[in-house]
Amino acid sequence: MVQVEIEGDIALVQIDNPPVNATGVAVRIGLVQAVKEAEAANVKAAIVFCAGKTFVAGGDISEFGKPAQLPHLPDVYQQIEDSSVPWIAAVHGTTLGGGFELAMACNFRLAQTGTRFGLPEVNLGLVPGAGGSQRLPRLIGVEAAVELATTGQMIDAQKLYDLGGLDLVFDGNPVDAAKMFAKDLPSVQSSLSTRTPAAVAPDYFDNKRIEIKKRAKGQTSPLDNLRAIEWTTTLPFSEGQPKERALHLELRDSTQSKALRHAFFSERAVGKPKAIEGGTPIDVKNITVVGGGLMGAGIAFTCLNAGYQVTLIERDQDAADAGRERIEGLIAGGVKRGKISTDKAEKLKSALTASDDYAASANADLAIEAVFEDLTVKQQVFQSLAAHMSEDAILATNTSYIDPTQIFDGIANPSRFIGLHFFSPAHIMKLLEIVKLPTTSKDVLATGFDLGKRLRKVGVLSGICDGFIGNRILSAYRRQADYLLMDGCTPKQIDDAMRGFGMPMGPYELQDLTGLQISWANRKRQAPTRSPNERYVRIGDLLCEAERFGQRSKVGWYKYQDGDRAPHEDSYVTDLIEQEAKQAGLVQTEFTNDQIVDRLLAVMVNEGARIVEEGIAERDLDVDLVKIHGYGFPRWRGGPMHYGQEIGIERVKAAMAEVVRQSPNSWVVSERLK
Ligand code: COA
Repeated sequence: MVQVEIEGDIALVQIDNPPVNATGVAVRIGLVQAVKEAEAANVKAAIVFCAGKTFVAGGDISEFGKPAQLPHLPDVYQQIEDSSVPWIAAVHGTTLGGGFELAMACNFRLAQTGTRFGLPEVNLGLVPGAGGSQRLPRLIGVEAAVELATTGQMIDAQKLYDLGGLDLVFDGNPVDAAKMFAKDLPSVQSSLSTRTPAAVAPDYFDNKRIEIKKRAKGQTSPLDNLRAIEWTTTLPFSEGQPKERALHLELRDSTQSKALRHAFFSERAVGKPKAIEGGTPIDVKNITVVGGGLMGAGIAFTCLNAGYQVTLIERDQDAADAGRERIEGLIAGGVKRGKISTDKAEKLKSALTASDDYAASANADLAIEAVFEDLTVKQQVFQSLAAHMSEDAILATNTSYIDPTQIFDGIANPSRFIGLHFFSPAHIMKLLEIVKLPTTSKDVLATGFDLGKRLRKVGVLSGICDGFIGNRILSAYRRQADYLLMDGCTPKQIDDAMRGFGMPMGPYELQDLTGLQISWANRKRQAPTRSPNERYVRIGDLLCEAERFGQRSKVGWYKYQDGDRAPHEDSYVTDLIEQEAKQAGLVQTEFTNDQIVDRLLAVMVNEGARIVEEGIAERDLDVDLVKIHGYGFPRWRGGPMHYGQEIGIERVKAAMAEVVRQSPNSWVVSERLK
């Protein structure tokens, strides 16, 4: 794990712990040994560097659920800082968390051009545990340290150098650069832990606390990181560092950190479902997108931005031109926000063709259909595509609800059919449901995952059911919210309860934002297959019939004032709810916010469990990531399935029993909850 080689008057200390050189126990033991060996050899300097594609990318997260093992990382780094031999960190790749802390414990820091630095512990619900929050303000100042530690953002080597955090940015091999540096070693300055950070404005921390609390929406680790950095302004390192360590260990056991670590590991497991084992992605270069509306344009832009050649197809030339304009608008938006250079923008534009002729799809390796949600329209699109494209080219539908097997009915080579369900706006939303048909080949499915990765999406495998994973759970969630309305809640009370839980919006505000027509259309579509015994709440339908479609029509579940997106309660809606309840002979009762949350969550967990039991999702983690990345479920709650485990299956079971009692014949309870 750690090898020491004495070369003349230099000790070369190499860490080799794939995949990311995390500081697991063997690395910690190796570093302590390296300090001793370098001192024994009485060398002029020790150079620490890493094998592989990155310098140390952090503590070993997989050790975090277990008791901490000796030697502890802060003690190891203290020995490096206190060593009689000057240490030089020669870093490359992503120098994160424990890696950045190691570099800060060294006397000199040299980084390869392009190296990225950060303290991502905040994203795992933690504070650094080996001096990061205490040394960083002493290295680059309090304000810059707060930016990094409370957001987990990375900065590149040049920026860190400009902030005074590096001695050198080099091109080429880290060891060569460090050896050159050591030849003419500058005199060793005071170690970081002995420095005092420059003072900040007296109200700096109070203001930051307010700002961060607002931004964090219930996640506590950004505030913990702020607190830890504040200690550097009042305490010496020798007192601040043990406090940081104690907080780090306490947070490792917190529910938020467990949830965030679950999300981290789930994101790495989600791309490796059993269903693609043995599959090899097919090389895709040219993509055809059919439909240049909001969704199609978003997909086309995302594909262009990831380096694909894109052909947009629309029904006539005017629509094709409008689609092109929309995509160019997205490119221009990227340029404006500094995300796309003007050079790249030109390249993207020239990689785009817009046409009203399906013959333009002839060279495409993959076609993604994003047209109106209508079976016949979609079937016609694929017939036209199949007439021009090669029989091996992959055909993908972006449908949200329609069974893809019907969409592709009658088209040759069913092994190439797949669903690629993007979420609107497609260039922003991270989630991509990758829908497997019974006929989809492993290679085609693997291509879907490969594409998702290249588009920087979180690709989640889904089988076929009404609404796939995400919208099926959404539909259950909304149905239960409507039952709660009838039983005594107001839309505002439900929205407030769910915001309090950590959702960015409650179900009714969200419907007003996206428009009530979508769920109205869905309810109409589901009507023929809905059991007549199921409890049905028609308030949403009545609002649509009264042309209350949400924010755009200024009235929906709430009313809106001109130029203002803030929802205001509307007696029209509360009266309507009361009337409907009365007509149904219901006695409305009061619910606490906790009861509301428990019931809505129970329904989500129940539906998620059924989805896994039916084989629509392979694992609970797939369900969790769908809700986190497509529906605003708070990441620090880990997704509904993780949350259900965390609060305990008994509590979920009890809440679900209440749900069923209040709405008999309306729910299928999962085997797991039974
Ligand atoms: N501890 C343990 N395992 C880690 C790890 C860590 N700190 N960081 C990454 N890994 C594992 C991943 O789980 C993955 O394992 P798998 O191949 O079995 O799925 C593997 O290393 C590669 O990671 P991945 O994220 O897929 O590679 P990447 O090249 O896309 O990204 C990093 C590399 C370092 C940028 C990214 O892994 C990362 O951000 N890691 C977390 C860093 C962090 O939070 N450090 C602070 C810890 S306190």
